[in-house]
Amino acid sequence: MTKPTTHRWYENSVFYQILVGVFNDTTGEGIGTLKGVEEKLDYLQWLGIDCIWLSPFYASPLRDDGYDIADYRAIHPDYGTMEDFDDLIEAIHARGMKLITDLALNHTSMDHRWFQESRKDPHGPYGDYYVWGDDPNRYPEIRIIFTDTESSNWSFDEVRGQYYFHRFYKEQPDLNYDSPAVHKEVLSLIDFWMDKGLDGFRLDAIPYLYERDGAGGESLPETLEFIEKLRAHVDEHYPDAFMIAEANQPPAETREYFGNGDRVHMVFNFPLMPRLYQAVATSQASPIIEIMPDLLHLPPGTQWGNFLRNHDELTLEMVSGPERELMYSSYLPDDSMRAHLGIARRLAPLMDHDRAKIELMYALMFGLPGAPFLYYGEELGMHDEPSLPDRYAVRTPMQWEPGPGAGFTTSDTPKLPIVGGEGLSVSEQRHDPDSLLSFVHSLIAARKAHPELGIGNYESIDVAEPSLLAVTRTLKAEDRVIPSDPISSAPLVCLYNFAPHPIAIPPQALAGVNGVGRVVIGSFDTAAEVHSGDALPGFGFVWLTA
Ligand code: NOJ
Repeated sequence: MTKPTTHRWYENSVFYQILVGVFNDTTGEGIGTLKGVEEKLDYLQWLGIDCIWLSPFYASPLRDDGYDIADYRAIHPDYGTMEDFDDLIEAIHARGMKLITDLALNHTSMDHRWFQESRKDPHGPYGDYYVWGDDPNRYPEIRIIFTDTESSNWSFDEVRGQYYFHRFYKEQPDLNYDSPAVHKEVLSLIDFWMDKGLDGFRLDAIPYLYERDGAGGESLPETLEFIEKLRAHVDEHYPDAFMIAEANQPPAETREYFGNGDRVHMVFNFPLMPRLYQAVATSQASPIIEIMPDLLHLPPGTQWGNFLRNHDELTLEMVSGPERELMYSSYLPDDSMRAHLGIARRLAPLMDHDRAKIELMYALMFGLPGAPFLYYGEELGMHDEPSLPDRYAVRTPMQWEPGPGAGFTTSDTPKLPIVGGEGLSVSEQRHDPDSLLSFVHSLIAARKAHPELGIGNYESIDVAEPSLLAVTRTLKAEDRVIPSDPISSAPLVCLYNFAPHPIAIPPQALAGVNGVGRVVIGSFDTAAEVHSGDALPGFGFVWLTA
């Protein structure tokens, strides 16, 4: 039974990221559609998904797979129509699920009308919508993000006869947040989508809104202030709305995005993500133990968005040099898998298709404080396609059925190749109790039965065993719906083994369950009793109640 909680919906929701163009094709053109997403809602509901995140589906030349938006108020014709979008929201809400979309507000596509006007007429109404200048060496402190393709953050525009600034591809000019008109445009397009009944947004590339001389151009006070403005606007008009920041920043700065609970509701857990991989690579729990104190005690109403993979490379921009080397040597067997400073691979190949390691990673994502974000296809252990350029290696079509087309399309020429692989489709896994999909399904159910995993107290237990992460999770008194409710759960004990060999469970690890744990889920039979001295298998995990 799901236990009560006073927290807001997103704090303990399970999210699922979809790239519309590769999820489910309903036209036979080899490209996924909004209707295709709607067709698969039963599946997502069965899986236990609370909230769907759609990556950009707006009008776009797709230089950056849609993160280069040419019209914020139009649907890319390949994906369907505005009516399809309205139908999709309705169908999602009818199932009690929620929908958030992705907004790239830092930049637009060059094809956006604002840029076309801005380049033509510096003194016209759009003249200052972008960051123009005559000196391509301005802001030398600002790093280049797409190092594989761009050698400068400035490009020359022949039409205007000036340089424009861009943090990403040269086809993605940065908007100028010093222009009040840009603020107005952004608030108005937020209203446009929220008025359709959307539940919130992912704020793409949000640290980069402002540039200032002598500064690195990330997380500037002006940027954080704009986020507060956005939040105040959203709170006033859409009090249930939710915003998650994509703020790939050094760990200490990442928390800035919560403010005092007056900036975004959620921030992707970039500080934690690489440490999960480091723990598996080194068979040490310390990378996680060391970062956890920095991640606890968030302002009320805020939460981390935990993730293992997404549509980008496994980013290594914010880890130290030695950590990056460790990640390359452990997870980058071939340079073709490198993208920018990271690794463009899916989870299963990263884990050498080792089922125990994959389950361990999932147990961490669902078991550490935060709300979990699943990337489509990862619940199947889908493979990737390293020969594809940019980050398309991890963006191949969803596999619904075995065979050509993978149930994704009837076209012989899908937009992106289908990777396939025996047993790696929904229809093959859904009714197989031993499949990864069945495991993820059970894990989500276990997570939902134990809200303390997302929002409860986190206490690390000192077990003097470097490969073992042992933690106690407890619901706090304030997590009750009615103040007179008893605190609804005894502590949950979670054990994670990063060693390839079994570890005897030390007695102190089970103190929270009075020495004997009953298995919720993990490497032992469900409901079995676990005692100290029992062997937790190599790369095994277990969640235990008293
Ligand atoms: C972050 C997105 O996740 C990535 O895919 C995109 O290329 C950049 N922001 C630019 O929008």
